[in-house]
Amino acid sequence: MTRNDTPPATTAEAVAILGGTGNLGYGLALRLGRAGYSVLIGSRSEDRAREAADRASTAVPEAHITGASNEEAAGAAARLVVVAVPFVSQVATLRSVSPALREGQVVLDATVPLGPAVGGRPTQLVGVWSGSAAQQARSAVPEHVGVVSGLHTLSAATLEDLDETVDQDTLICGDSAADKQVVQEVLGRIEGLRVVDAGRLEMSRMVEGLTPLLIGINIRNKTHAGIRVVGL
Ligand SMILES: NC(=O)c1ccc[n+]([C@@H]2O[C@H](COP(=O)([O-])OP(=O)(O)OC[C@H]3O[C@@H](n4cnc5c(N)ncnc54)[C@H](OP(=O)(O)O)[C@@H]3O)[C@@H](O)[C@H]2O)c1
Repeated sequence: MTRNDTPPATTAEAVAILGGTGNLGYGLALRLGRAGYSVLIGSRSEDRAREAADRASTAVPEAHITGASNEEAAGAAARLVVVAVPFVSQVATLRSVSPALREGQVVLDATVPLGPAVGGRPTQLVGVWSGSAAQQARSAVPEHVGVVSGLHTLSAATLEDLDETVDQDTLICGDSAADKQVVQEVLGRIEGLRVVDAGRLEMSRMVEGLTPLLIGINIRNKTHAGIRVVGL
């Protein structure tokens, strides 16, 4: 499943990124901005959002990237709302934006429950009562809004280095084929990135576990490697 051959999006298509001031969200903003999306960087602070948007616009001058509060970003006319915040703040962030979310929108949750959330190491996965961070996101978002998980194995450093080709897969999980299609269309426009459907949302438990595994591999090899599923 790849959409690398699709034409650039028109700027009418918007993507909101909650926590877009951070490592993953900012790198994603650069890539999606370059792919032709109108990107709304969300933050708890409008000033931080605007500063990140200015920085991103300088890095990708052709892109349309603006900053807003997380609530404003979630409520904007974006089909896709990416959640790129630490595990400890995932539920609070989703609850804060829930009133602004509308039917037809899809939340793409990138959260990984890593050890530092409980004083552990980034190479450790934390158990989540609901099964996975993605399932926890599902419980924090209104039922009329879709939830898909993805981006877990894509490093922020790779996304931010625009001279580097992404050249890897991202596994997405979700219970609605239509919601996964929305994610596929958006992420598939990032050059070199292939989106692979990994099944239902409950499968995210296994995909999220790949992140601490990769972090360990990357520490040992001093790199930012991702994953590639072969033979598809
Ligand atoms: N970094 C990666 O390479 C990578 C790769 C795959 C998946 N992920 C996952 O993606 C998520 C984001 O990772 P990241 O490295 O980008 O995180 P980060 O840079 O530490 O944080 C992202 C943003 O979240 C907001 N935030 C931080 N602490 C918060 C809190 N206590 N309450 C509410 N908001 C808070 C901040 O935005 P404001 O202060 O502007 O609100 C921050 O800029 C994590 O769940 C991570 O496991 C990361």
